[in-house]
Amino acid sequence: MDRTAEKDVLFTKGELGAYSLPHRVIMAPLTRSRSKQPGNIPTEMNAKYYAQRSSAALIISEATQISPQGMGYAFTPGIHSNEQIEGWKKVTKAVHEKGSKIFLQMWHVGRISHSSLQPEGALPVAPSAIKAEGEAFTYQGLVPFETPRALETEEIPGIIQQYEQAARNAKEAGFDGVEVHAANGYLLDQFLRESTNKRTDAYGGSIENRSRLLLEVIEAVTSVWGPDKVGIRISPTGTFNSITDSDPEKTFGYLVDRLNLFGLAYLHVVEAFGEGPKPDFDFNRLRKSFQGPYIANGGYTADSARESLISGKSDFIAFGTKYIANPDLVERFKLGAPLNEADPNTFYGGNEKGYIDYPFMEVNAVSNE
Ligand SMILES: Cc1cc2nc3c(=O)[nH]c(=O)nc-3n(C[C@H](O)[C@H](O)[C@H](O)COP(=O)(O)O)c2cc1C
Repeated sequence: MDRTAEKDVLFTKGELGAYSLPHRVIMAPLTRSRSKQPGNIPTEMNAKYYAQRSSAALIISEATQISPQGMGYAFTPGIHSNEQIEGWKKVTKAVHEKGSKIFLQMWHVGRISHSSLQPEGALPVAPSAIKAEGEAFTYQGLVPFETPRALETEEIPGIIQQYEQAARNAKEAGFDGVEVHAANGYLLDQFLRESTNKRTDAYGGSIENRSRLLLEVIEAVTSVWGPDKVGIRISPTGTFNSITDSDPEKTFGYLVDRLNLFGLAYLHVVEAFGEGPKPDFDFNRLRKSFQGPYIANGGYTADSARESLISGKSDFIAFGTKYIANPDLVERFKLGAPLNEADPNTFYGGNEKGYIDYPFMEVNAVSNE
């Protein structure tokens, strides 16, 4: 028995909304693009991957499209068809059998898509008709993004409806809760930030207006799940998917004040992800202004996670890349054991290689077979 782990702040119990979690290590959402075709359906292999990682206190699923329109990458799973719900049941069952919990990350990509991935070859939708820089990951390979179609004001209730239906589907699929993906330059982030939102209706312009869609989505999703089983992910300084904001402190400060009215399970903040310069941002101030659990993510090691927890800068830490390569990350952290390195060549798409074949520590090999 490892006695040091008993006093280790990473391995203290923590409250997260409706749940008491056994420790502070969370698996971050990770797109792996390995759903069954046709239909973007979760498989037994996906269930095995998540089960392998179920010593996490909480697993947040890979981003999952809430509707055919919400899809932006080849091979990502959805939560809008019966077959997908049945597929996800295999995943949630496998995770529950191992004693862990799993939230579904709800995803609408907005402009980060391509007509070849959209129903009837339509253009992707967005707050405004502004093209992202870069390329979409389609079934034909990487192709330049297109200029999206700006959503009409009358279409917004339909978007909220997509979230509400997906929230119901997630419940049917056996998830323990949902995380609204408002990070990394996807639809809700595109509404929040001024570089992608040039609307002149009630959903654009002022910070209040730019936050409106997200707050209406949270309202709809919490009406299905109750607020204590709904989390939200934001990336205030993120520039991934060519997005910026001139005053993220103001934008996200306002947002968090409004989120406080809901009593959500948690605020999940991507503090660092991707290349390029980042604006100054006081994450600790954001953390203090949120009246609920704060999950920090982005470049954390076991030691920097401990520092963050001890200094009160966070309540839980989510690990991304380390979870790709280390199914038994929790056990490795407990023992201070070395970590496997993740192979970027197998991040997106493919088969078992680089997915369910990362080795457990010797000591665990038998019990996790
Ligand atoms: C392969 C890969 C897939 C990712 N997929 C998602 C995703 O589906 N949803 C999301 O919010 N973030 C996604 N991210 C971002 C991670 O959740 C995390 O924010 C990022 O990797 C930084 O954390 P880390 O330093 O612990 O890896 C992804 C990152 C990687 C490397």
